[in-house]
Amino acid sequence: MKKNVLITGSCGFIGYFVCLEFLKNNYRVFGVDNLNDYYSKLMKNHRLTLLSQNKGYTHLYFDLSVKKDVKFLFDRLKNEEIEYVVHLAAYPGVQYSLKNPQKYIKNNIVATQNLFDFINKHPYFKKNIILASTSSVYTGNPLPFNEDLCIKEFRSPYAYTKFASENIARFFYSVYDFNVVVLRYFTVYGPLNRPDMAVYKFFESILKGKTIYVRGKDIERDFTYVEDAAKATFQATKLFTLNQKVFEIINIGSDNPIKVLDLIKVMFEVAKKETKVVVGEYASFEPVSTWANIEKARKLLNFSPSIDLYQNLLKTFRSLEHYWNEIEGSLLRIH
Ligand SMILES: NC(=O)c1ccc[n+]([C@@H]2O[C@H](COP(=O)([O-])OP(=O)(O)OC[C@H]3O[C@@H](n4cnc5c(N)ncnc54)[C@H](O)[C@@H]3O)[C@@H](O)[C@H]2O)c1
Repeated sequence: MKKNVLITGSCGFIGYFVCLEFLKNNYRVFGVDNLNDYYSKLMKNHRLTLLSQNKGYTHLYFDLSVKKDVKFLFDRLKNEEIEYVVHLAAYPGVQYSLKNPQKYIKNNIVATQNLFDFINKHPYFKKNIILASTSSVYTGNPLPFNEDLCIKEFRSPYAYTKFASENIARFFYSVYDFNVVVLRYFTVYGPLNRPDMAVYKFFESILKGKTIYVRGKDIERDFTYVEDAAKATFQATKLFTLNQKVFEIINIGSDNPIKVLDLIKVMFEVAKKETKVVVGEYASFEPVSTWANIEKARKLLNFSPSIDLYQNLLKTFRSLEHYWNEIEGSLLRIH
């Protein structure tokens, strides 16, 4: 019989690929997403349409920050034995969080608490949780970032609310019999990329002939390809098969920081088109560099990130071109 997994944030950028990975591995996937309006609902609906073409996917449209919704969700799943919960639903984005901290408290902290409370109450859920966290919690630490570093500085509500969600998970591990794997993702990119992130914005600017703005000439990121991140997330389920309590924090990155200005050069090659680039001041709310130590992921998850930036960007570009042409129709308007 097929195993069941509950994936929150299933119509999000990473969630979509994590769902595909579980479906490929013959799971029945229950995806929860309220398709919030942090960015284009069209993009989220497009991912939902693609997911719904799989017989093994069931969508549950609930808001995890609303207790009543979470109760309905758990009532709906009453007769399903859930093997794993992958909790990806969150409000992302560092910059937006500075002006809208309440949304981050609601969707990253309250929603996580609600989810864990309900799992704790329900006997048909196995308490095996994979929780998405972020490299943003490392800000202020020396490079490369490894999982043992002390988390001591926060430059955004996004970072501190994600760290709070890690601590909620640690509480349920310490006091109740939860097993938890926290994955700290590093700047994920790939097909159907999140629209508020650099890779989406830069390709859009290249195609539409708009100026690209870069926050500092040396800014660099440990870019992680989304299908690598999804595979690692699936692999994390293997850590629950041992008959012992688990609490692990694992970086999911590439161990290969790339300067944003170099990334843009490869994007120009991929798009076969260039546009003007303006380098501005560094931002106070984000680090100049990120760099993941991924030894733990290599050892525990058999993780081996793909290194072909050109090919990964090409797949990303093609997916976005298709999205802009066929779904959004925005390129048609400028040609
Ligand atoms: N993309 C990255 O580079 C990156 C890096 C580090 C960490 N992360 C983490 O990975 C996870 C997924 O990020 P993403 O880039 O796919 O973001 P995303 O915004 O594309 O996906 C998150 C999804 O969660 C849903 N959601 C949010 N609040 C909800 C709620 N209260 N109830 C139900 N659904 C809700 C949203 O509608 C969205 O579809 C997040 O936890 C994020 O913090 C992402």
